Amino acid sequence: MESLIERLPNVEALVERAQTITLELIQTAITQRGQFTIALAGGSTPKPLYEHLATQSLPWDKIHVFWGDERYVPPTHPDSNERMARQAWLDHVPIPPENIHRMPTESPNPADSAQAYEQHLRTFFGDAEIPSFDLILLGIGDDGHTASLFPHTAVLNVCDRWVDVGYRGIDPRITLTIPLLNQARHILFMVAGASKETALAAIFADNTNPFDYPARFIRPVGQLQWLIDQAAGQNLNLSVGP
Ligand code: 6PG
Repeated sequence: MESLIERLPNVEALVERAQTITLELIQTAITQRGQFTIALAGGSTPKPLYEHLATQSLPWDKIHVFWGDERYVPPTHPDSNERMARQAWLDHVPIPPENIHRMPTESPNPADSAQAYEQHLRTFFGDAEIPSFDLILLGIGDDGHTASLFPHTAVLNVCDRWVDVGYRGIDPRITLTIPLLNQARHILFMVAGASKETALAAIFADNTNPFDYPARFIRPVGQLQWLIDQAAGQNLNLSVGP
């Protein structure tokens, strides 16, 4: 399936477009399958999208929220992706608590938490085959990482697990793995800011080593879609794409 790539004039337009796409996918998923499953990105770019979604009247009992990755900190920590999503969105809507599928970060051993989350996914989706999220939101770092898949780290080689530990330097993070991410029905990258320009150009270049820019590993069975603001994509040739 061809990638969809849109360059928006600014981050506000990017977030508005992301909301439209998300609401369409919610409706489609619930109509076709009776539920909508989304894995959230962390960081700062998606926060205004979450704030927009908090204003929507939706069938919250049919919406299940997961995370694509999580810093290995308590959910009260300022760096927590869960904390950001709850404060921006989930604490403001009547979504059943059991529909919020947090990544655990309590075990002294991050690998145990990754395994526990995978078991939770297998319980929710069934473990007959690798599941497809209806939507996975992703961003990219200035270094070309996505989720917690950082350049030249061991997790890039994992092919037999759905969830694992990704390291940013010595800092552990829980992350969905490439095989699980690539099973998504729809992956939406949201990339904003001039600091992303170099990484984005590398990701869109034909001969880039994905171990240098792990976002290049993301080739979902479903639709891959990029929303890029002018600052991040000003020099990008949009006729090509990953
Ligand atoms: C995280 C994210 C990470 C993020 C990128 C972009 O936990 O930080 O999941 O992959 O998407 O680092 O972050 P910004 O949106 O803050 O630029």
